[in-house]
Amino acid sequence: MYREFYGLLRRPFEMTPDPAFLYLGDAHREGLATLVYGVQARKGFVLLTGEVGTGKTTLLHALLSQLDPDTLSAFIFNPRLEPLDFFRMLFDEFGIEKPCTTKAEYLLTLNRFLIERLEKDEPTLLIVDEAQNLSPEMLEEIRLLSNLETPTSKLIQIMLVGQPELWDMLARPELRQLRQRIVLRHALRPFGPGETRDYVEERLRLAGYTGKGIFKKAALAELHARTGGIPRLINIVCDGALLLGFGREKAVLSAGEIREVADDLGLDEGVAPEPAMDASPGPKRTKRFGLFGSRRAGRA
Ligand SMILES: Nc1ncnc2c1ncn2[C@@H]1O[C@H](COP(=O)(O)OP(=O)(O)OP(=O)(O)O)[C@@H](O)[C@H]1O
Ligand SMILES: [Mg+2]
Repeated sequence: MYREFYGLLRRPFEMTPDPAFLYLGDAHREGLATLVYGVQARKGFVLLTGEVGTGKTTLLHALLSQLDPDTLSAFIFNPRLEPLDFFRMLFDEFGIEKPCTTKAEYLLTLNRFLIERLEKDEPTLLIVDEAQNLSPEMLEEIRLLSNLETPTSKLIQIMLVGQPELWDMLARPELRQLRQRIVLRHALRPFGPGETRDYVEERLRLAGYTGKGIFKKAALAELHARTGGIPRLINIVCDGALLLGFGREKAVLSAGEIREVADDLGLDEGVAPEPAMDASPGPKRTKRFGLFGSRRAGRA
Protein backbone atom coordinates (compact mmCIF):
# COMPACT_ATOMS: atom_id res chain seq x y z
CA MET A 1 0.00 0.00 0.00
CA TYR A 2 2.37 2.67 1.27
CA ARG A 3 5.47 0.94 -0.07
CA GLU A 4 5.84 2.84 -3.29
CA PHE A 5 5.07 6.17 -1.68
CA TYR A 6 7.96 5.78 0.77
CA GLY A 7 10.31 4.10 -1.72
CA LEU A 8 10.33 0.73 0.05
CA LEU A 9 10.83 -2.69 -1.55
CA ARG A 10 8.99 -4.53 1.21
CA ARG A 11 7.00 -3.75 4.29
CA PRO A 12 9.51 -2.84 6.99
CA PHE A 13 7.45 -3.59 10.09
CA GLU A 14 6.04 -7.08 9.64
CA MET A 15 5.09 -9.05 12.73
CA THR A 16 7.07 -12.20 11.97
CA PRO A 17 10.40 -12.97 13.65
CA ASP A 18 12.13 -12.81 10.25
CA PRO A 19 15.91 -13.28 10.71
CA ALA A 20 16.49 -11.09 7.64
CA PHE A 21 15.33 -8.16 9.79
CA LEU A 22 17.38 -9.03 12.83
CA TYR A 23 18.69 -5.97 14.61
CA LEU A 24 21.27 -6.55 17.28
CA GLY A 25 21.43 -3.60 19.64
CA ASP A 26 22.98 -3.95 23.07
CA ALA A 27 19.91 -5.64 24.57
CA HIS A 28 19.67 -8.41 22.00
CA ARG A 29 23.39 -8.80 21.48
CA GLU A 30 23.82 -9.39 25.19
CA GLY A 31 20.92 -11.85 25.25
CA LEU A 32 22.19 -13.74 22.23
CA ALA A 33 25.71 -13.92 23.65
CA THR A 34 24.32 -15.45 26.85
CA LEU A 35 22.36 -18.08 24.96
CA VAL A 36 25.30 -18.99 22.72
CA TYR A 37 27.56 -19.20 25.76
CA GLY A 38 25.02 -21.37 27.58
CA VAL A 39 25.01 -23.86 24.75
CA GLN A 40 28.72 -23.82 23.97
CA ALA A 41 29.80 -24.12 27.59
CA ARG A 42 27.20 -26.88 28.06
CA LYS A 43 25.70 -25.08 30.98
CA GLY A 44 22.83 -27.53 31.29
CA PHE A 45 19.83 -25.42 32.18
CA VAL A 46 19.42 -21.89 30.79
CA LEU A 47 16.48 -19.52 31.26
CA LEU A 48 15.57 -16.56 29.07
CA THR A 49 12.75 -14.30 30.20
CA GLY A 50 11.35 -11.10 28.77
CA GLU A 51 8.12 -9.16 28.61
CA VAL A 52 5.64 -9.89 25.83
CA GLY A 53 7.02 -8.78 22.48
CA THR A 54 10.59 -8.00 23.56
CA GLY A 55 12.07 -10.38 20.96
CA LYS A 56 12.60 -13.71 22.73
CA THR A 57 11.44 -15.87 19.83
CA THR A 58 13.37 -13.71 17.39
CA LEU A 59 16.48 -14.27 19.48
CA LEU A 60 15.95 -18.02 19.46
CA HIS A 61 15.85 -18.04 15.68
CA ALA A 62 19.07 -16.06 15.67
CA LEU A 63 20.60 -18.56 18.09
CA LEU A 64 19.62 -21.53 15.93
CA SER A 65 21.26 -19.95 12.92
CA GLN A 66 24.50 -19.42 14.89
CA LEU A 67 24.90 -22.84 16.41
CA ASP A 68 27.56 -25.25 15.39
CA PRO A 69 26.19 -27.61 12.69
CA ASP A 70 26.91 -30.55 15.01
CA THR A 71 24.32 -29.28 17.48
CA LEU A 72 20.98 -31.00 17.21
CA SER A 73 18.10 -28.95 18.52
CA ALA A 74 14.44 -29.49 19.19
CA PHE A 75 12.35 -26.36 19.22
CA ILE A 76 9.09 -26.83 21.14
CA PHE A 77 6.90 -23.76 20.88
CA ASN A 78 3.60 -25.22 21.97
CA PRO A 79 4.21 -26.39 25.50
CA ARG A 80 0.54 -27.00 26.31
CA LEU A 81 1.11 -30.66 25.62
CA GLU A 82 0.43 -33.88 27.45
CA PRO A 83 3.70 -35.53 28.50
CA LEU A 84 3.44 -38.37 25.95
CA ASP A 85 2.70 -35.91 23.14
CA PHE A 86 5.68 -33.92 24.28
CA PHE A 87 7.92 -36.96 23.95
CA ARG A 88 6.45 -37.74 20.52
CA MET A 89 7.20 -34.22 19.38
CA LEU A 90 10.68 -34.35 20.84
CA PHE A 91 11.44 -37.63 19.05
CA ASP A 92 10.11 -36.18 15.84
CA GLU A 93 12.34 -33.11 16.19
CA PHE A 94 15.38 -35.27 16.99
CA GLY A 95 14.57 -37.72 14.20
CA ILE A 96 14.39 -40.71 16.57
CA GLU A 97 12.29 -43.33 14.85
CA LYS A 98 12.01 -46.09 17.44
CA PRO A 99 8.33 -46.49 18.37
CA CYS A 100 7.69 -46.11 22.12
CA THR A 101 4.46 -46.32 24.06
CA THR A 102 5.30 -45.58 27.67
CA LYS A 103 7.17 -42.75 29.30
CA ALA A 104 9.79 -45.14 30.61
CA GLU A 105 10.43 -46.41 27.08
CA TYR A 106 10.76 -42.88 25.78
CA LEU A 107 13.23 -41.92 28.49
CA LEU A 108 15.31 -45.06 28.00
CA THR A 109 15.47 -44.60 24.24
CA LEU A 110 16.28 -40.94 24.61
CA ASN A 111 19.01 -41.70 27.12
CA ARG A 112 20.70 -44.10 24.69
CA PHE A 113 20.37 -41.64 21.85
CA LEU A 114 21.91 -38.85 23.92
CA ILE A 115 24.79 -41.01 25.12
CA GLU A 116 25.64 -41.90 21.52
CA ARG A 117 25.65 -38.22 20.66
CA LEU A 118 27.83 -37.35 23.63
CA GLU A 119 30.32 -40.04 22.61
CA LYS A 120 30.59 -38.33 19.24
CA ASP A 121 30.89 -35.00 21.05
CA GLU A 122 27.74 -33.72 19.38
CA PRO A 123 25.66 -31.42 21.60
CA THR A 124 21.91 -31.80 21.91
CA LEU A 125 19.65 -28.92 22.78
CA LEU A 126 16.01 -28.67 23.79
CA ILE A 127 14.41 -25.24 23.50
CA VAL A 128 10.99 -24.67 25.01
CA ASP A 129 9.49 -21.35 23.94
CA GLU A 130 6.42 -19.91 25.70
CA ALA A 131 7.51 -21.93 28.70
CA GLN A 132 5.27 -19.90 31.02
CA ASN A 133 2.48 -22.10 29.63
CA LEU A 134 4.06 -25.33 30.82
CA SER A 135 1.89 -27.35 33.17
CA PRO A 136 3.34 -28.62 36.45
CA GLU A 137 3.36 -32.14 34.93
CA MET A 138 5.38 -30.95 31.96
CA LEU A 139 7.82 -29.09 34.19
CA GLU A 140 8.31 -32.33 36.05
CA GLU A 141 9.07 -34.12 32.76
CA ILE A 142 11.60 -31.47 31.93
CA ARG A 143 13.19 -31.86 35.31
CA LEU A 144 13.51 -35.58 34.62
CA LEU A 145 15.18 -34.82 31.30
CA SER A 146 17.66 -32.59 33.08
CA ASN A 147 18.52 -35.63 35.21
CA LEU A 148 19.91 -37.41 32.19
CA GLU A 149 23.62 -37.24 32.72
CA THR A 150 26.80 -39.20 32.91
CA PRO A 151 29.01 -38.82 35.98
CA THR A 152 30.91 -36.08 34.16
CA SER A 153 28.51 -34.44 31.77
CA LYS A 154 24.94 -33.36 31.12
CA LEU A 155 23.41 -35.24 28.21
CA ILE A 156 21.06 -32.51 27.10
CA GLN A 157 21.07 -28.73 27.23
CA ILE A 158 17.70 -27.29 28.12
CA MET A 159 16.64 -23.73 27.40
CA LEU A 160 13.39 -22.44 28.87
CA VAL A 161 12.11 -19.24 27.32
CA GLY A 162 9.11 -17.26 28.45
CA GLN A 163 7.49 -14.27 30.02
CA PRO A 164 8.73 -13.00 33.40
CA GLU A 165 6.10 -14.97 35.33
CA LEU A 166 8.02 -18.10 34.34
CA TRP A 167 10.60 -17.25 36.97
CA ASP A 168 7.86 -16.82 39.59
CA MET A 169 6.35 -20.14 38.57
CA LEU A 170 9.66 -21.81 39.24
CA ALA A 171 9.68 -20.30 42.72
CA ARG A 172 6.84 -22.57 43.81
CA PRO A 173 8.02 -24.98 46.52
CA GLU A 174 7.38 -28.09 44.41
CA LEU A 175 9.53 -26.66 41.61
CA ARG A 176 12.43 -25.53 43.73
CA GLN A 177 14.54 -28.40 42.60
CA LEU A 178 14.12 -27.38 38.98
CA ARG A 179 14.86 -23.74 39.73
CA GLN A 180 18.02 -24.72 41.52
CA ARG A 181 19.30 -26.36 38.34
CA ILE A 182 19.15 -23.20 36.31
CA VAL A 183 22.76 -22.16 36.01
CA LEU A 184 22.34 -19.19 33.71
CA ARG A 185 19.45 -16.86 33.27
CA HIS A 186 18.95 -13.71 31.29
CA ALA A 187 16.14 -11.17 31.25
CA LEU A 188 15.76 -9.49 27.90
CA ARG A 189 15.13 -5.80 28.37
CA PRO A 190 13.26 -3.51 25.98
CA PHE A 191 15.20 -1.09 23.79
CA GLY A 192 16.57 2.17 25.15
CA PRO A 193 15.79 5.38 23.19
CA GLY A 194 18.90 5.08 21.00
CA GLU A 195 18.19 1.44 20.23
CA THR A 196 14.59 2.28 19.30
CA ARG A 197 15.87 4.85 16.81
CA ASP A 198 18.52 2.51 15.36
CA TYR A 199 16.04 -0.34 15.16
CA VAL A 200 13.54 1.70 13.15
CA GLU A 201 16.21 3.05 10.83
CA GLU A 202 17.74 -0.40 10.34
CA ARG A 203 14.36 -1.92 9.45
CA LEU A 204 13.67 0.86 6.95
CA ARG A 205 17.09 0.34 5.40
CA LEU A 206 16.58 -3.43 5.18
CA ALA A 207 13.24 -2.78 3.49
CA GLY A 208 15.06 -0.83 0.79
CA TYR A 209 14.64 2.75 2.00
CA THR A 210 17.41 5.05 0.78
CA GLY A 211 16.02 8.49 1.66
CA LYS A 212 16.97 10.90 4.43
CA GLY A 213 14.62 9.53 7.05
CA ILE A 214 10.88 9.11 7.43
CA PHE A 215 10.51 9.67 11.16
CA LYS A 216 11.57 12.99 12.65
CA LYS A 217 13.67 12.98 15.80
CA ALA A 218 10.67 13.98 17.90
CA ALA A 219 8.63 11.19 16.29
CA LEU A 220 11.22 8.63 17.35
CA ALA A 221 11.27 10.03 20.87
CA GLU A 222 7.48 9.83 21.04
CA LEU A 223 7.62 6.31 19.62
CA HIS A 224 9.99 5.23 22.34
CA ALA A 225 7.89 6.84 25.08
CA ARG A 226 4.68 5.23 23.89
CA THR A 227 6.03 1.73 23.22
CA GLY A 228 8.48 1.51 26.11
CA GLY A 229 11.02 0.22 23.58
CA ILE A 230 9.11 -3.04 23.02
CA PRO A 231 9.88 -4.16 19.46
CA ARG A 232 6.47 -5.63 18.69
CA LEU A 233 4.73 -2.41 19.76
CA ILE A 234 7.25 -0.37 17.77
CA ASN A 235 6.39 -2.41 14.67
CA ILE A 236 2.66 -1.93 15.15
CA VAL A 237 2.91 1.82 15.72
CA CYS A 238 5.36 2.39 12.85
CA ASP A 239 3.22 0.40 10.42
CA GLY A 240 0.16 2.40 11.48
CA ALA A 241 2.03 5.70 11.20
CA LEU A 242 3.28 4.88 7.69
CA LEU A 243 -0.25 4.09 6.63
CA LEU A 244 -1.55 7.31 8.15
CA GLY A 245 1.24 9.32 6.52
CA PHE A 246 0.53 7.72 3.16
CA GLY A 247 -3.14 8.66 3.44
CA ARG A 248 -2.11 12.27 4.09
CA GLU A 249 0.73 12.24 1.57
CA LYS A 250 3.31 13.08 4.20
CA ALA A 251 6.75 11.78 3.31
CA VAL A 252 8.13 12.78 6.71
CA LEU A 253 6.32 11.89 9.91
CA SER A 254 6.34 13.87 13.11
CA ALA A 255 5.47 13.15 16.74
CA GLY A 256 1.83 14.03 16.01
CA GLU A 257 1.32 11.01 13.74
CA ILE A 258 2.92 8.69 16.26
CA ARG A 259 0.71 10.15 18.98
CA GLU A 260 -2.43 9.61 16.91
CA VAL A 261 -1.63 5.98 16.18
CA ALA A 262 -0.56 5.27 19.76
CA ASP A 263 -3.76 6.90 21.07
CA ASP A 264 -5.85 4.73 18.74
CA LEU A 265 -4.06 1.66 20.06
CA GLY A 266 -4.55 2.77 23.64
CA LEU A 267 -0.81 2.97 24.31
CA ASP A 268 -0.22 5.44 27.09
CA GLU A 269 3.16 6.83 27.88
CA GLY A 270 4.97 4.67 30.38
CA VAL A 271 2.51 1.75 30.36
CA ALA A 272 4.79 -0.61 28.50
CA PRO A 273 6.28 -2.79 31.21
CA GLU A 274 9.89 -3.06 32.26
CA PRO A 275 11.26 -6.53 32.88
CA ALA A 276 10.51 -7.52 36.45
CA MET A 277 13.54 -9.65 37.16
CA ASP A 278 16.39 -7.39 37.99
CA ALA A 279 15.93 -4.79 40.66
CA SER A 280 19.50 -3.57 40.41
CA PRO A 281 20.33 -0.61 38.18
CA GLY A 282 22.39 -0.87 35.01
CA PRO A 283 22.36 -3.31 32.14
CA LYS A 284 23.53 -6.45 33.97
CA ARG A 285 20.71 -8.85 33.37
CA THR A 286 22.38 -12.19 33.29
CA LYS A 287 22.64 -14.19 36.43
CA ARG A 288 24.55 -17.32 37.07
CA PHE A 289 23.84 -19.62 39.90
CA GLY A 290 26.10 -21.70 41.98
CA LEU A 291 24.97 -25.10 43.09
CA PHE A 292 23.57 -23.81 46.32
CA GLY A 293 21.27 -20.99 45.44
CA SER A 294 21.24 -17.58 43.92
CA ARG A 295 24.80 -16.36 44.13
CA ARG A 296 25.29 -13.64 41.57
CA ALA A 297 28.34 -14.11 39.43
CA GLY A 298 28.25 -11.39 36.83
CA ARG A 299 27.76 -11.57 33.15
CA ALA A 300 28.69 -14.11 30.52
N1 LIG B 1 16.24 -7.91 17.68
C1 LIG B 1 15.23 -7.80 16.83
N2 LIG B 1 15.47 -7.56 15.53
C2 LIG B 1 14.45 -7.46 14.65
N3 LIG B 1 13.18 -7.59 14.96
C3 LIG B 1 12.86 -7.83 16.25
C4 LIG B 1 13.86 -7.96 17.24
N4 LIG B 1 13.27 -8.22 18.42
C5 LIG B 1 11.96 -8.24 18.18
N5 LIG B 1 11.69 -8.01 16.88
C6 LIG B 1 10.36 -7.90 16.25
O1 LIG B 1 9.41 -7.78 17.28
C7 LIG B 1 8.38 -8.77 17.14
C8 LIG B 1 8.17 -9.44 18.48
O2 LIG B 1 9.27 -10.26 18.74
P1 LIG B 1 9.13 -11.77 19.27
O3 LIG B 1 7.95 -12.44 18.66
O4 LIG B 1 10.46 -12.40 19.13
O5 LIG B 1 8.83 -11.43 20.81
P2 LIG B 1 8.60 -12.43 22.01
O6 LIG B 1 9.39 -11.88 23.15
O7 LIG B 1 8.88 -13.82 21.59
O8 LIG B 1 7.06 -12.20 22.30
P3 LIG B 1 6.01 -13.16 23.06
O9 LIG B 1 6.24 -12.92 24.53
O10 LIG B 1 4.68 -12.67 22.62
O11 LIG B 1 6.31 -14.57 22.65
C9 LIG B 1 8.84 -9.76 16.09
O12 LIG B 1 7.85 -9.97 15.17
C10 LIG B 1 10.02 -9.12 15.42
O13 LIG B 1 9.58 -8.66 14.16
MG1 LIG C 1 7.70 -15.48 21.50
